[in-house]
Amino acid sequence: MQTVIITGGTDGLGKGLALHYLRQGAHVIAVGSTAAKGQALLTEADTIPAGRAGFIRSDLTSVTASQELAERLAQDHPVVDKLILCAQRYRLLGDRATTPEGFEHSFALAYLSRFVLSHGLHDALRAARRPVIMNVGTPGVPLGRIHWDDPQLTRAYSGTKATLQSFRANDLLGVAFGVLHADSGISYIGYNPGVVSTGMPQSLPQPLRAATKALFAMFAASVPKATAPMTALLDDPPAEPFTAYWQKRRLPLNGRAFDRQDALRLHHLTRELIPH
Ligand SMILES: NC(=O)c1ccc[n+]([C@@H]2O[C@H](COP(=O)([O-])OP(=O)(O)OC[C@H]3O[C@@H](n4cnc5c(N)ncnc54)[C@H](OP(=O)(O)O)[C@@H]3O)[C@@H](O)[C@H]2O)c1
Repeated sequence: MQTVIITGGTDGLGKGLALHYLRQGAHVIAVGSTAAKGQALLTEADTIPAGRAGFIRSDLTSVTASQELAERLAQDHPVVDKLILCAQRYRLLGDRATTPEGFEHSFALAYLSRFVLSHGLHDALRAARRPVIMNVGTPGVPLGRIHWDDPQLTRAYSGTKATLQSFRANDLLGVAFGVLHADSGISYIGYNPGVVSTGMPQSLPQPLRAATKALFAMFAASVPKATAPMTALLDDPPAEPFTAYWQKRRLPLNGRAFDRQDALRLHHLTRELIPH
């Protein structure tokens, strides 16, 4: 029985992937911050006799919670076949928000939690036959950058800037992971699903919520359609330590977004930022 861990596995793309792998007979552990969404997934999973479902409630804006989660998962699951990173909550508008640990919100949730879980589950993944990490974000989008002099954006904050920075940080996370764990056999995939109709607009303030819902109604793919190429990749991951995809299209790893020096620089900066 495969073990599949999905952050953000209680809604949108993550939930679609959770249900898919349950139907395939996997042991799926979904992580989310809302107990009711986790319970809803477990209730739905009860109708699928093939797989085994678990839910862990964790607020991944907290680095400590992410570290505790990684430790718990590694202890309970010495072999992890797939780690899928989907947890996200956009804060495109409004004032800068920090977590109780003092990190800017998007940096903490969208980037630091993925950093901690990717590296924290390395040994358990390495023990699997064809281990894969899929970091779901926006590789290939030429927007945003790392603000090296002020990554917490204390001086010139905007929600869009913070969100885009977290996306670019995840591109570099994948590059660095591939360099640092080149011989691990783990396939790290940065994946852009395109526009998909998910629960994402729910957390946006009005009028952005209505505008995004209207956009989704016109252009967005359904979750089952969007997850089909994802599961194809997850089940037959590339041999290279790091690859990036926009749906089925493999992206060239050139350009600043995938720069190896930047990736290692961000890796070391992140290691200094987070408590050990
Ligand atoms: N949808 C798109 O068009 C699109 C396009 C490009 C990229 N993506 C990427 O795809 C990924 C999945 O997006 P989606 O659209 O499927 O999102 P979604 O439907 O909004 O689901 C987000 C998931 O993240 C969880 N989450 C949010 N805050 C959390 C926290 N603090 N701690 C733990 N879990 C948390 C949510 O559960 P709770 O609410 O219970 O916390 C939920 O399960 C994201 O990385 C997104 O950037 C999506």
